[in-house]
Amino acid sequence: MSETYHRIAKSEDIEERVALPFIVNGWPVAICRDKGKLYAFINRCSHAAAEFAPDCRIRSGSVMCPLHSARFKLETGENIGGANYKPLKLFPVRETEDGWIEVAVPDEEPGMEHLPVRRLT
Ligand code: FES
Repeated sequence: MSETYHRIAKSEDIEERVALPFIVNGWPVAICRDKGKLYAFINRCSHAAAEFAPDCRIRSGSVMCPLHSARFKLETGENIGGANYKPLKLFPVRETEDGWIEVAVPDEEPGMEHLPVRRLT
């Protein structure tokens, strides 16, 4: 599966321990920083498809789902805490020298299994 980097935000837009949601080539992507490092992961919990960003918590190298509190490692996508949910899909992310954040997503559009269920408000 080929993938392409897309420029999505200025570096200063991504603050420490705050995840922001983006749609990139149709893919739901959450971007955050933890201890200065950038992470990009699918904005869809593998438990019941809730969106992580913007309401999730970023703590100690993990993201916590706002719906039922499942936690996943930012480095690997692995579920932690014993529930054994599927790991999160991670996306390559980089910061350019001129202050932009770029994320690589598949060139193919996502399937329904990649899209979150949105809350009715
Ligand atoms: S939907 Fe994320 S823990 Fe249930």
